[in-house]
Amino acid sequence: MNGKKINVAIVGLGFGKEFIPIYQRHPHTNMYAICQRTRSKLDEVGDQFGVEKRYTDYEELLSDTDVDAVHINSPIHLHAAQSIAALWAAKHVACTVPAATSMEDCREIVRAAEQSGKNYMMMETAIYTREFLFIRKMRDTGKLGRIQFLRGCHQQEMAGWPGYWEGLPPMHYATHAVSPCLALVKGEAEHVACFGSGKIEERLAAKYGSPFAVESALFKIRNQQLCFEVTRSLFETARQYVESLDVYADKTSFEWTQIEGEDPVVHVGERPERAKVPDYAHLLPEPIRRFTTKGVYDDEHAHLSFVQGGGHGGSHPHLVNEFVTSILENRPSFPDVHQSVNWTCAGICAHMSAMRGGEIVKLPVFRA
Ligand SMILES: NC(=O)c1ccc[n+]([C@@H]2O[C@H](COP(=O)([O-])OP(=O)(O)OC[C@H]3O[C@@H](n4cnc5c(N)ncnc54)[C@H](O)[C@@H]3O)[C@@H](O)[C@H]2O)c1
Repeated sequence: MNGKKINVAIVGLGFGKEFIPIYQRHPHTNMYAICQRTRSKLDEVGDQFGVEKRYTDYEELLSDTDVDAVHINSPIHLHAAQSIAALWAAKHVACTVPAATSMEDCREIVRAAEQSGKNYMMMETAIYTREFLFIRKMRDTGKLGRIQFLRGCHQQEMAGWPGYWEGLPPMHYATHAVSPCLALVKGEAEHVACFGSGKIEERLAAKYGSPFAVESALFKIRNQQLCFEVTRSLFETARQYVESLDVYADKTSFEWTQIEGEDPVVHVGERPERAKVPDYAHLLPEPIRRFTTKGVYDDEHAHLSFVQGGGHGGSHPHLVNEFVTSILENRPSFPDVHQSVNWTCAGICAHMSAMRGGEIVKLPVFRA
């Protein structure tokens, strides 16, 4: 990049809008262009944030040779195709979760990333929350000790979200629960057994042919003597929103808070105590530190995911910084393309297992 700022384009301006001011303030990026199909909404956002370059057509955006990187925040069924097209157009790609909805598309993303030599990063908020960074520090300082088991959970009520969410198999949106387990042990899922439980109303179930209210899976981690468990629900299961990670280790274990706003519990041996989780803004360039505690929107216009998800634990500027610095330093991002697709395939294979009554499903290995 030779000291030049990276020209970033954001695609999809619902959740995607959250990231505009972060790229505008990051010292190594230029918030170059925005893209979405409806002209009036595109102009509204462009005017609000002062972004001049605007595209209603994604293909046109990709043919703009000034675009160095795209950050995709479109509906989930478009993630894979848009990522693949961008990589072949020689753009670095950051894409919101999940990376894809099929294993074939995961394979294509890897092929496009490897052959183009461009970075691909799935923008997984759950591995840059302040809670995750707190647990990661306990791992790195030896406070946890030897990790013995992990548990991820993501329960959310998605009634009222855009139509493509209705009836989505819970495990097709499992990365927020899968990724922190795997990120903490720097691992990849090898195989999975998953069961479906309960049922959602016929109208919803018919949309993706997925009848279960809850899917619960046990994963084996490749090359490590470790398993982790993931529970997901999306409809008709009462609970406050939660995206959680529990970690059990021989010295210290961490259990996520049950109710938003309470402190989590750290067990040192058999002694439990509430932990105060600090903020990690100091790890970031100064101009974007404010975004670990403040959203882009005011309270009245907050994006629903930001409100339900407690501001995603301050993860947004950390994600942007990791994506940008990985490009500048010419190194793989965390997660890199292989981790991104493995963490996505974990959910795809889990749903497959649930539909086969809990049969063990082996994940494909995409790494050469
Ligand atoms: N914690 C998280 O990581 C998190 C939270 C919320 C949403 N998300 C992800 O972000 C994505 C978007 O969520 P949302 O709530 O903003 O969805 P949305 O459906 O409200 O908005 C999608 C946006 O994409 C645009 N779009 C649709 N088709 C397009 C196309 N062909 N070309 C260009 N733009 C197009 C739409 O105009 C809109 O601006 C979802 O896939 C979701 O997975 C992730």
